Amino acid sequence: MKTIIVVYSYHHKNTEKIAHAMAGKLNAVVQYPQSVNPDELQAYDLVGLGAGIDSGKHYAPILQFAETLPAVKDKKAFIFSTSGLGGKKKMFRDHKALRNILTAKGYCVVDEFSCVGLNTNSFLKHFGGINKDRPNAEDLRNAADFSEKIIQNISLKQ
Ligand SMILES: Cc1cc2nc3c(=O)[nH]c(=O)nc-3n(C[C@H](O)[C@H](O)[C@H](O)COP(=O)(O)O)c2cc1C
Repeated sequence: MKTIIVVYSYHHKNTEKIAHAMAGKLNAVVQYPQSVNPDELQAYDLVGLGAGIDSGKHYAPILQFAETLPAVKDKKAFIFSTSGLGGKKKMFRDHKALRNILTAKGYCVVDEFSCVGLNTNSFLKHFGGINKDRPNAEDLRNAADFSEKIIQNISLKQ
């Protein structure tokens, strides 16, 4: 299964660490939106898109990248993020904008992942931020397990 992960990560490269942990199991290529042509994604069977969360959504560059993707028919995608505050419910809310764009393009979003990451935004920097040392080894293991689960679920359905 040919897989590409497109990630945008800048605050502490938290989401980039997660992308690489996922890529190992999936044998995936990892790219930033600015270094991949949206048309190139046609060549992949599975597409992962991820970024940090800003104001309750994925960072604008990944949303803008998703908007430029050509329409597809039932291609599989997964979504991931890191954020200051965690939780499944929040993840589904934070992922809504990207999920809606991908679904409208014809992608089938097979699974979603998030974990917390170091956040020194705004006043938080005055006391060293929150989620120090996250993502940690366990977060990276969870990200790798997540990608393994995707592979298993896709092969079961084929
Ligand atoms: C400008 C800015 C806005 C943020 N907004 C949110 C937010 O709305 N919700 C949240 O949970 N975390 C928020 N965060 C925290 C980041 O999503 C979190 O630190 C993330 O792990 C950063 O990812 P990165 O290192 O891959 O860029 C924000 C961080 C920054 C810098």
